[in-house]
Amino acid sequence: MGNLFQSAPKVEQLLSEVNYDGIIKYIQDGKCTNIITMAGAGISTSAGIPDFRTPGTGLYDNLAKYDLPNPQAIFEIHFFRKNPAPFYALAKELYPGVFKPTPCHYFLRLLHEKKLLLRHYTQNIDTLERVAGIPEEMIVEAHGTFATAHCIDCRKQFSQEWVKDKVFADEIPKCTDKKCGGLVKPDIVFFGENLPFRFLSCSMKDFPKCDLLIILGTSLAVQPFASLIDRVPDTTPRLYINLEKSESDASNLLSKLMGGGGGFDFESDSKYRDVFWQGTCDDGCVSLSERLGWKAELDKLTLEEHAKIDKEIGQ
Ligand code: OAD
Ligand code: ZN
Repeated sequence: MGNLFQSAPKVEQLLSEVNYDGIIKYIQDGKCTNIITMAGAGISTSAGIPDFRTPGTGLYDNLAKYDLPNPQAIFEIHFFRKNPAPFYALAKELYPGVFKPTPCHYFLRLLHEKKLLLRHYTQNIDTLERVAGIPEEMIVEAHGTFATAHCIDCRKQFSQEWVKDKVFADEIPKCTDKKCGGLVKPDIVFFGENLPFRFLSCSMKDFPKCDLLIILGTSLAVQPFASLIDRVPDTTPRLYINLEKSESDASNLLSKLMGGGGGFDFESDSKYRDVFWQGTCDDGCVSLSERLGWKAELDKLTLEEHAKIDKEIGQ
């Protein structure tokens, strides 16, 4: 019988060196024109939006007032059916307001404008990628959006404004169909619900083509999004920019045992494509832009776009 842990046949290494310099050179040499970016809450914390799992500041550590059986229950569809009030109370605080996209968001837009971006996959529901001017067709909002809402029973659609008015009046939004009366929920994906069809259709065609994967500001704790990192070709380099190396070892081991891609390998002697850059997403993107000679462009874009937003909100 074969050894479960025996080493796999060696895969071709595309990076000249398996480190940050190697990634920069790979981009500079024009080796990648189908970059996929994958993001989580960490790309928006500098815009003032808390993430979920950072101890102390993360949303899940600050839900005590809602008296939940566990923090994630606030986004669980079965709990919501029984007790929707905590979610709507939180939604009142969470509704996308006037947050400004970060330098990281504008760096993603530059990747697109330079025709290097194949697609941006985000778990965020703050719509800051759209606000940053990345075209809608370039974005996959894997965990949905606040932009629309549906009755969870008859699927009748409601506008963001209609739901928002109810939520801000501390009313539970209920379906207007007299025979139905179901709960109306913004189209953000809850635990226990399917991801949007677009996630499936785009990821199936995009990931086999990806020639550089950049993962930013996510703990990679939530499936199926997290396992996308294993859907790129075996040779494709992967750059993970995050405050900490938070991909869970347990899921890594499980994935190895099940014959999956097995998560990242930043450390071992046989590493050949994975690079970890520790720090904030803004610093990581500013550093990339410096090394690629795009820093002045990034600064200009950020300044101009922020000035536009200030003007719109009359500041
Ligand atoms: P998490 O809160 O799980 O992870 C955010 C990650 O970003 C953590 O590893 C932080 O250390 C890191 N981080 C925070 N600020 C950063 C910064 N400025 N620069 C770099 N890294 C930073 O958030 P997500 O991974 O997005 O789903 O969470 C995934 C999903 O879990 C969410 O979409 C949400 C949640 O439950 C649903 O609600 C369905
Ligand atoms: Zn209904």
